[in-house]
Amino acid sequence: MELQLVKGDITQMHVDAIVNAANSGLMGGGGVDGAIHRAGGPEIMNECSLIREQEGGCPTGEAVMTTGGLLPVKKLIHTVGPIWKGGNNGEKDKLTACYINSLKLAESQHLQTIAFPNISTGVYGYPKEEAAQVAINAVKSFKSKVLTKVVFVCYDDENYQFYQQFLSE
Ligand code: APR
Repeated sequence: MELQLVKGDITQMHVDAIVNAANSGLMGGGGVDGAIHRAGGPEIMNECSLIREQEGGCPTGEAVMTTGGLLPVKKLIHTVGPIWKGGNNGEKDKLTACYINSLKLAESQHLQTIAFPNISTGVYGYPKEEAAQVAINAVKSFKSKVLTKVVFVCYDDENYQFYQQFLSE
């Protein structure tokens, strides 16, 4: 499984699956969630509403799947990162679970390539340096015979620099 680092907008990625940093109500929002819904069109929200009705949304650390709407992907994976509350409230385990559960879901659908944003490092306030370490460790620990490539897509310079540093270690 190859690990790749890209600086830019995740909605421009040509991969089998893009991961969204959603909220547990799957209600849409700002940040990467807003960008994905804008680029993917209203069909994605229709599918999110259905999941909300049927399953009550998506708990923190878990992941659900929709189509990609107008995005050039096969699937969208919506995962819900933890809100940073100082670090002693299970944030690390929940953030790890976001990455692992997204990878499991991708694998269950025989998807080979997947792109992640920097989950929880925006409005949810997870410190970027620590989140980068959690993300890279989680993905590296996941041994897959199905997935061939995982792309970390960093939108801001700070995240990009941490990923560059930790991926080269
Ligand atoms: N492509 C890739 N990354 C992006 C993009 C984009 N187009 N836009 C923003 N980002 C990056 C930000 O730089 C940040 O590092 O996404 C990271 C995560 O930030 P948020 O989108 O704020 O996500 P998060 O902190 O997990 O908060 C989730 O925000 O928008 C709401 O509905 C969402 O309530 C949920 C909450």
